[in-house]
Amino acid sequence: MTKSILVVNGPNLNLLGTREPEIYGAETLDDIKFKMIEKAAEHDFTIHFVQSNIEGELVDFIQTARTDHDAIIINAGAFTHTSVAIMDALQAVDTPTVEVHLSNIYKREEFRHKSYISGVAVGMIAGFGSLGYLMAVDAIDDILN
Ligand code: DQA
Repeated sequence: MTKSILVVNGPNLNLLGTREPEIYGAETLDDIKFKMIEKAAEHDFTIHFVQSNIEGELVDFIQTARTDHDAIIINAGAFTHTSVAIMDALQAVDTPTVEVHLSNIYKREEFRHKSYISGVAVGMIAGFGSLGYLMAVDAIDDILN
């Protein structure tokens, strides 16, 4: 049966393409979405792709994974470094999760080195730009099959 991956994007990722392109690249979030849909089709996965700038909305999206999705890929943006609520939601849904960051957060400011997501994710991919999202789909294939 076709499996469903929930892809959750946090604050300011809606500005990709124009937001600090030297750090985050020139692609828009829609570009990433369409590449992921193609990649997921190779594995017979469907992608449900969402973005919000609001922490509680991200929690609501994550909670839908309990009944509607088989895995989660998440780039929580700045909430990565602050949000106990997002960490708790991921723990509560008990759905295999891969954390993604476009930039290598360990090469950047000290406050970006702490991730609340990492402790509840299967693993993290950081520093490969949009390729990281596609690598995460391959990782999910490995985890689910
Ligand atoms: C980010 C890294 C975060 O530190 C930052 O706040 C973001 C994007 C990344 O994809 O590299 O918004 O998650």
